[in-house]
Amino acid sequence: MRYSGITGWGKYVPERVLTNQDLEKMVETSDEWILARTGIKERRIAGPDEAVSTMSLAASQDALAVAGLDPRDLDLIIAATSTPDYLTPPVSSMIQGMLAAPHAAAFDLAAGCTGFVYALATAHQFIATGTYDNVLVIGAEITSRFVDWEDRATCVLFGDGAGAVVLQASEAPTGILSFVLGSEGTEYDALIVPAGGSRHPPCQEALDKRMHYIKMDGRRVFKFATKTPVEAAVRVIEGSGLSVDDIALLIPHQANLRIIQCLAKSLGMPLEKVYINLDRYGNTSAASIPVALCEAMEEGRVKEGDNVLLLGFGAGLTWAAAVVKIGVPQALSWPISWPLASLKDRSFCSVRSLARGAVGVLSAIVGALLLPLYSSTDKRD
Ligand code: ACO
Repeated sequence: MRYSGITGWGKYVPERVLTNQDLEKMVETSDEWILARTGIKERRIAGPDEAVSTMSLAASQDALAVAGLDPRDLDLIIAATSTPDYLTPPVSSMIQGMLAAPHAAAFDLAAGCTGFVYALATAHQFIATGTYDNVLVIGAEITSRFVDWEDRATCVLFGDGAGAVVLQASEAPTGILSFVLGSEGTEYDALIVPAGGSRHPPCQEALDKRMHYIKMDGRRVFKFATKTPVEAAVRVIEGSGLSVDDIALLIPHQANLRIIQCLAKSLGMPLEKVYINLDRYGNTSAASIPVALCEAMEEGRVKEGDNVLLLGFGAGLTWAAAVVKIGVPQALSWPISWPLASLKDRSFCSVRSLARGAVGVLSAIVGALLLPLYSSTDKRD
């Protein structure tokens, strides 16, 4: 059986910080209201030169560095986003070009804020079937460009960011243990950008009516978000043969602190076992879970062998849950890393990685043979 181990993670958030106090000067709102109703204190806003592609590139490069993987070894790139650079081409193809990953297939996946977990499950299928070994999964959004900065009910909620993970084939039971995906399409208009797509192409009337901005029925989304994801979480934990107590950390979509508290309570999980960073970033849509996962890894909130529950929900309305077992890769540098990694962790095995290991062994031997020459040259100087 082939599993999909998470071997690399990275994130990028824009430098510009927009605080609740800043918003008080833009719309009729207050820090107290935003904090009490959402838990958000500040969010990041992309600069004029930034795009989903550039932010994804930065997050992906970090994820590849952690994994110790050359972009040339990527088989597939999936970019989960609802705010791609262009309607066409797919932003995933742009990222593939920028990364210089010539052997990777690429496609975008749009499932609102749930997109990253959908993309993770999709990547897992390609790996589990033996089709691919190395997949890059990205969640990235510049929602700030689709937010109506005159609508206080939505503009206080969202922020920009990007997160990425590298999935690699593994024989050990690591990475994605199970997942549950769902959609309730009759609720499609609860969270919608009415114009700009093929139903209402961009036109002056659409602009005048501000139809190119996010419209949300907050209460409807809130009701859905506090109920359906819980059912998915219970099913996915059961599906992985675990119990709630076996989950070391819940990483929910960072939409609203009250929603997160409801989810944790319904699942019987203490808040200490829930990762929360929405106070700093707001709702970054498809980027929220990979950014949180990356920070949880960097902060040591999870360790090798821990089970993490990822829980996404959003436009569609869609939801997705996945149980992921963490396996920490060996952070060694080329050329010694390749032979050591292949010898040390035989669970990450493919014809290509074995070939890389062989090349690495040869490089190490050649390096060892040449070393005395370099040393003697130094001495002469
Ligand atoms: N500042 C001050 N007052 C505000 C603001 C604001 N920013 N926004 C709304 N209000 C007012 C409303 O006008 C309303 O006033 P009224 O009673 O005089 O009509 C009052 O506050 C209460 O409004 P509600 O909409 O009932 O406020 P609620 O407690 O439901 O909170 C919120 C609104 C935060 C949007 C909540 O409904 C929510 O979090 N919903 C889920 C939204 C969400 O998470 N969406 C994303 C999930 S999917 C995805 O991530 C893409």
